Amino acid sequence: MSFDLVLFGGTGDLAWRKLMPALFQAFRHGSLPANGRIIGVARDDLSDDQYRELIQSRFKAVEGAKRPTEEEFKAFASMLHYLRLDLSKPADYKRLADLLNTRNADSIIMYVATAPALFTQTVEQIAVAGLNGPKTRVVLEKPLGHDLASNRAINEAVGKVLKENQVFRIDHYLGKPSVQNLFAMRFGNALFEPIWRREHIANIQITIAEDLGVEKRGAFYDQTGALRDMVQNHALQLVCAIAMEPPINAHADAIRDEKLKVLRSLKRWTPDSLGLHSVRGQYTAGTAYGERVQGYKEEPGVDPESRTETFVALRTEIENWRWAGVPIYIRTGKRLASRDARIEINFRPAPHAIFRSPAGVANKLVINLQPKDGLELHLLAQAQDQRVSTKAGVRAGMLPLAPVQLDLDFDKRFGTERVGAYERLLLDVIEGRLNLFVRSDEQEAAWHWVEPLIDSWGMDGGPRPYAAGTWGPSASSAMIARDGFAWGEEQ
Ligand code: BG6
Repeated sequence: MSFDLVLFGGTGDLAWRKLMPALFQAFRHGSLPANGRIIGVARDDLSDDQYRELIQSRFKAVEGAKRPTEEEFKAFASMLHYLRLDLSKPADYKRLADLLNTRNADSIIMYVATAPALFTQTVEQIAVAGLNGPKTRVVLEKPLGHDLASNRAINEAVGKVLKENQVFRIDHYLGKPSVQNLFAMRFGNALFEPIWRREHIANIQITIAEDLGVEKRGAFYDQTGALRDMVQNHALQLVCAIAMEPPINAHADAIRDEKLKVLRSLKRWTPDSLGLHSVRGQYTAGTAYGERVQGYKEEPGVDPESRTETFVALRTEIENWRWAGVPIYIRTGKRLASRDARIEINFRPAPHAIFRSPAGVANKLVINLQPKDGLELHLLAQAQDQRVSTKAGVRAGMLPLAPVQLDLDFDKRFGTERVGAYERLLLDVIEGRLNLFVRSDEQEAAWHWVEPLIDSWGMDGGPRPYAAGTWGPSASSAMIARDGFAWGEEQ
């Protein structure tokens, strides 16, 4: 199978930070079809060789084992090509068409990793140059728009020149091995399904915490904020993966139909819930990795008066038969206490206590997304040292229980050289698998749900401050405490 992969934004941040390393890993793992061309496209004036040198120099920053040897890079580099292209010039797309027509590849992939404002124009010009034939697949990076209207405008423009099954809207969280395993756990095993519902689950918590600040993306982030950057896409896709009904098969539309139903069942916001069930914060100076770090407003590219949120905590519910009344808490932020992404499914306590259990402890399933990748099942077991309990005057048959856990570490079990999110998703595009990509109606439903938050936040007093290196504003803990629960690490 042959493919031509055109990387719009070929010298940009995403290309060298994520896409090139992922393509190289696929090449190293032998899964990248050999007869492929990767064509970087950007405005800089570079030859093929200069582009290869640029990519090679950037690979030096890649962590140890993932860095190519000279020999490996040489072999990989033979796939790399470069074309200077000004996105606003139709004649330049014609030159791209000429390059692609020098052979008849089985699939042509246009990866649009440019500024979002350029998506529509780029896709339209691809069509004008006659490059939207049935062999073409277009990959669109997030953010796709900044609200529902702009998202619809992009989807409509794209829909005029491409069929829905040619459009691959990427959400790299769906490519993470841990998220694959969430699908496998739910739909490849029968064990959890009977208890995966309101009768047995007390609450669900999704945490996507980052310890990094906004790094070099201050200007972009200041226009975006955590709600648009992480909640509208990654966090809501995780909600879908947890809450969707079992699809009738593994085909893309069967999966996406079920995810769409979840997004449409998310509890609508009311003036009360907007106040009570949403918290936003912005980091101030504090610590990270034991060192003093500056606050968000001091970051390069950020408006010193900025009201952009770097932290969001929300409470919602899914209004359907399976989930009615089960609170779902979502929280994400930058410069939090640690890099930690996980989903906690908190089960209801045993209905009748014959043991003395530690207060408030019940069964819990933790799906670790990163930095660990695995599953933990928290159970209660008989404490080892029974003398302690006897001394405390506990009668026989009523010894206290202690928390224990079954710990499944996927990195240990399957090795750390597992297929990363971008590698997996790029291979899916090359092979035409849409399962892990987001359909336009899903994306619109997600925007529809977050939009009242965006509107109400425009009118309130701004985000609450939190010191870098903490778990966000205390209002986030207060929000969940009102339901009688606590965030996982605070119990
Ligand atoms: C991106 C966001 O989509 O996801 C970034 O734009 C964020 O702000 C990143 O840092 C997090 O991805 P990961 O895979 O490191 O959790």
